[in-house]
Amino acid sequence: MRIAIVSLKGGVSKSTLCVNIGAALSKLGRSVVVVDADPQGSINDWAAIRDEVSRPPFTVLAAARKTLNRDIDALQGSHDDCLIDTPGRAEAITLSAIAAADLVLIPISPSSYDLWAAEQTLERMDPIRAIYTDIKIAYVVSKAVVGSSLDRELRQVIKEMEGDLLKTGWCISGWRFSAVPMGSPSTS
Ligand SMILES: Nc1ncnc2c1ncn2[C@@H]1O[C@H](COP(=O)(O)OP(=O)(O)O)[C@@H](O)[C@H]1O
Ligand SMILES: [Mg+2]
Repeated sequence: MRIAIVSLKGGVSKSTLCVNIGAALSKLGRSVVVVDADPQGSINDWAAIRDEVSRPPFTVLAAARKTLNRDIDALQGSHDDCLIDTPGRAEAITLSAIAAADLVLIPISPSSYDLWAAEQTLERMDPIRAIYTDIKIAYVVSKAVVGSSLDRELRQVIKEMEGDLLKTGWCISGWRFSAVPMGSPSTS
């Protein structure tokens, strides 16, 4: 499977999820390549540091290029799964990563800003999905205080959006968020 982790917003856990999903898939015995398509190169940097201790459990390739949809076969090679970490903007690189993917995973944390970014991300994907009609959409909640009212409210809002919410995505963290009301800019 090819999974692009996408959000127009930075700091929503794209790179963190990419590394953790890569590690989880590797643990299941699958061979994984992570394509670091963010020019910032967070995962590439992580892999270099990790390599000093022990080899990362998956292959990391730095490929911040806007031809990912054309290059993805070569980048994936014989690996079972391919994860693509993208920059936090709707630039050509991100759009080409979406076109290369079977599944687009959109991280959201319980904040209106993240939710609006997710909605904008969906909108920006429309022209690509009109051509690549098989692309699936799923959301993963990150940095949520599980059981909080913002957490519950976010689940409800996501249920009404197109695509699936990954149950495995609920992540307990010590983060606290100010009580920013949820909802889209058009409805609140
Ligand atoms: N579930 C989480 N709980 C707490 N901190 C997190 C979690 N996911 C990511 N972070 C932290 O949030 C920051 C942004 O994460 P990052 O993966 O770099 O986001 P992005 O790639 O979307 O810019 C990092 O400091 C990271 O360690
Ligand atoms: Mg990142």
